[in-house]
Amino acid sequence: MKLILLGAPGAGKGTQSAKISEKWNIPAVSTGDMLRAAVKEGTEQGLSAKAYMDAGKLVPDEVVIGIIKEYLSSDKCKNGFILDGFPRSIPQAEALDAMGVKIDAVLSIEVEDEKIIERMSGRRICSSCGASYHVVYNPPKKADVCDACSSALYIRDDDAAETVIKRLNTYHEITEPLKGYYEKKGILVCAKGMEKVEDTTANVFEALEKVEA
Ligand code: AP5
Repeated sequence: MKLILLGAPGAGKGTQSAKISEKWNIPAVSTGDMLRAAVKEGTEQGLSAKAYMDAGKLVPDEVVIGIIKEYLSSDKCKNGFILDGFPRSIPQAEALDAMGVKIDAVLSIEVEDEKIIERMSGRRICSSCGASYHVVYNPPKKADVCDACSSALYIRDDDAAETVIKRLNTYHEITEPLKGYYEKKGILVCAKGMEKVEDTTANVFEALEKVEA
């Protein structure tokens, strides 16, 4: 399966892509995670990306398209993949088409803005393996410690409330039109993401099983 995950910041793309990856045994890649890794390494690309990310804006298309092109040409993608957070603009979607990549489904996880703001304030991320938690909805067994690798959890810089509002505006203005783009191609499927993590997973699996059938 070659799958794109769409959804507002905090809709649960990362959470659900881990579940899909496990069930369908396909690799998941998040452009956000790749950019954060570049920021952490202090590369030139990372340093220039950080300013856009902290401002709640999209990193320029050419940077992200370059990263994805390289990733998709790797061997691990030959039996399928999940793209979490790419494409995020019409030019990025057109670039993906131009690479000759045939996508099976585009899954949009639907969550209202009010819920997003509440979720982002409680998100915690593992500083080592990147696992994502929520202090109320998906808490680690021990506060501020990753269940998987025992590293410390941190709060993402762009999860500050004022940045989340900017990211939501960017989503509605630039990314949400992709739903129409993929609906026209007949490959858009939607799953409700407002309820608990496991309920969203059930909605996501049901939508994807229909695609497979
Ligand atoms: P990125 O890291 O992709 O951020 P995002 O799309 O804003 O999405 P998030 O990672 O914030 O949220 P998510 O949907 O994965 O939700 P999660 O599962 O963590 O991108 C960051 C930045 O990088 C962008 O702003 C941009 O600057 C840049 N960038 C990235 N890709 C780019 C591109 N293609 N082009 C240009 N720029 C790009 O869940 C959120 C929280 O809610 C967690 O705490 C989780 O535990 C909890 N939760 C999840 N589901 C539920 C549920 N059902 N009920 C209760 N809680 C839940």
